[in-house]
Amino acid sequence: MGKLNLVVAFIIVWFLGLQYTSIAQEKDSPTHQMKKNQSKNDFKKETIMNMPNKFEFKPLPYSYDALEPFIDKLTVEIHYSKHHKAYYDNFINAIKGTEMESMDIKDIFKNISKYPMAVRNNSGGYFNHTFYWENMKSHGGGLPTGKLSEAITKAFNSFEEFKKQFSDAGKTRFGSGWAWLCLDDKGNLFICSTPNQDNPLMDIAEKKGIPLLTMDVWEHAYYLKYQNKRPDYIDAFWNVVNWEEVAKRYENALKSFGMK
Ligand SMILES: [Fe+2]
Repeated sequence: MGKLNLVVAFIIVWFLGLQYTSIAQEKDSPTHQMKKNQSKNDFKKETIMNMPNKFEFKPLPYSYDALEPFIDKLTVEIHYSKHHKAYYDNFINAIKGTEMESMDIKDIFKNISKYPMAVRNNSGGYFNHTFYWENMKSHGGGLPTGKLSEAITKAFNSFEEFKKQFSDAGKTRFGSGWAWLCLDDKGNLFICSTPNQDNPLMDIAEKKGIPLLTMDVWEHAYYLKYQNKRPDYIDAFWNVVNWEEVAKRYENALKSFGMK
């Protein structure tokens, strides 16, 4: 009987060993990796309400406190995770089941006057904020370099004059909105501001162009730290501008107009 028990125990251990090896091999197999990736993608799509990945809510390119002391941590956190996220969610809801689901956002902007107000406000809110986060960085500021620097001097006589005009566009925007530096289809730089969540890519914009730099002048962008002193926030903004990103956008804008 003792010998029989030993044999049975040996068979059980051998069988369990076989099962373990087979599971381990399956985990390493390409099929398993594919299944794993597929389920990751499914999860990603699920979290953005089955929308194509192009309408992603992109992660903030830095930590909430990266723009301190010029733009405070709590402002960035609330601005990104509450305000920007709400525009994104509302945009996704507003285009659900429409032709816009499969359109490029820039084509939506080109035809924005044909769509409901909810699309205009929330597509702008979604896009403008992403654009704003990406044209700032920790330890930014300083001066633009290279071709962008030359173009700014050519268009505005000096960097200081450009800075003044851009700041004024933000300071004088009545109510809520945005200040922009853009490139027009003749290759000229210009400054403008838009109300609410409009932007210069929209067909309703007073002056249309490709945006290169933006500054949010809604109160939610500065009120916690600067209260009603919008000009102080605007002065601080120059310390966090990501000029490398703006220069990249300038090169791409020239290319898209066939000027390079
Ligand atoms: Fe904002």
